[in-house]
Amino acid sequence: MSLKITINLTEDSKISSFDAENIKFGQVFTDHMFACDYINHEWQNFRIDPFGKIPLSPTLSALHYGQAIFEGMKAVKNTDGVITLFRPLDNLKRLNQSAVRMCMPTLSEEIFMEALHKICSIDKNWIPTKTGSALYIRPFMFATDDFLGVKPSENYSFMVYACPVNAYYTHALKVRVEEHFTRAAKGGVGAAKCAGNYAASMYPTKLAQDLGYDQVLWTDGATHEFFEETGTSNVFVVTDDAVYTPEINDTLLAGITRDSIIQYLKHEGHQVIETKVSVRQVIDWHKQGKIKEMFVSGTAATVTNIELMAYQGQDYTINATDNLLSKQILNFFNNIKTLAAKDPFNWVSIVPSEAVINQ
Ligand code: COI
Repeated sequence: MSLKITINLTEDSKISSFDAENIKFGQVFTDHMFACDYINHEWQNFRIDPFGKIPLSPTLSALHYGQAIFEGMKAVKNTDGVITLFRPLDNLKRLNQSAVRMCMPTLSEEIFMEALHKICSIDKNWIPTKTGSALYIRPFMFATDDFLGVKPSENYSFMVYACPVNAYYTHALKVRVEEHFTRAAKGGVGAAKCAGNYAASMYPTKLAQDLGYDQVLWTDGATHEFFEETGTSNVFVVTDDAVYTPEINDTLLAGITRDSIIQYLKHEGHQVIETKVSVRQVIDWHKQGKIKEMFVSGTAATVTNIELMAYQGQDYTINATDNLLSKQILNFFNNIKTLAAKDPFNWVSIVPSEAVINQ
């Protein structure tokens, strides 16, 4: 790769205070971060710096007008020290789709992959090896113009930081089907991974959490009759004859984990139906004892079961059987990511061991 990256390593590593046995999601960050700037219509100033605060002007346009997008991905290190990424180019594709929707510049494969490889390699000692743990990687882009007024920024920063994590959820979820608030409307930005979508989900999620639920299960904004996704993940319903998941449209985030599950389950001979999933239908299946399992999927959430679904003031317990499909999926993902099993889909991408070259 020919990208010229200035590497400025920390002289004050925090690795000795990192307890890999006791990781709390999103609270510990590795020693370094990648950054570059979009100035005069091109990406430049590629650099690795010690992780730390960045200077911001009060006028920074991302803070006011919301041009801010991000991705979530994970690197895994196996016991031989081999580091892998999972479908990184799909994250890049989605980042660039988000960028187009939010009127932001796109990023090349070279910049994106070099940033990931450098961070993974330089901070490789931060990657936990325990099953289910990983290095969560957060690529993100934001507008940096100093300007008051609504127009696309001319300047942007793209950055990548990382944190060692376990699964986002440590238990099966209690979700509340949301019928009043709406995550996304047709023609809106629901399919973009933009910061504002998460901000908009916080108040309804807080209301659900105040009632003892973990998450909101969004329904479509037009009728509130069909499942969309939760605040952090896509959703699957397993009945005795098929696996159902809401079809992708412009109000839903096209999860890479979601797509991987669909492909894997089809490969294993399951019938997977991407369709409009009606809440009423799911309640009927529940009453008829046809629901075998419900789960959510996401990079952070991995594959997490739903144990209870609240709808119109009534709680429905999802009695998962012992033979959980979600466990099988999780095992498969863990095995291919650590190279313990063959990856029939070519999803796993090995971080080159020569990725750290002082430049
Ligand atoms: C992810 O799954 O990576 C997300 O961005 C969702 C967030 C809950 C961390």
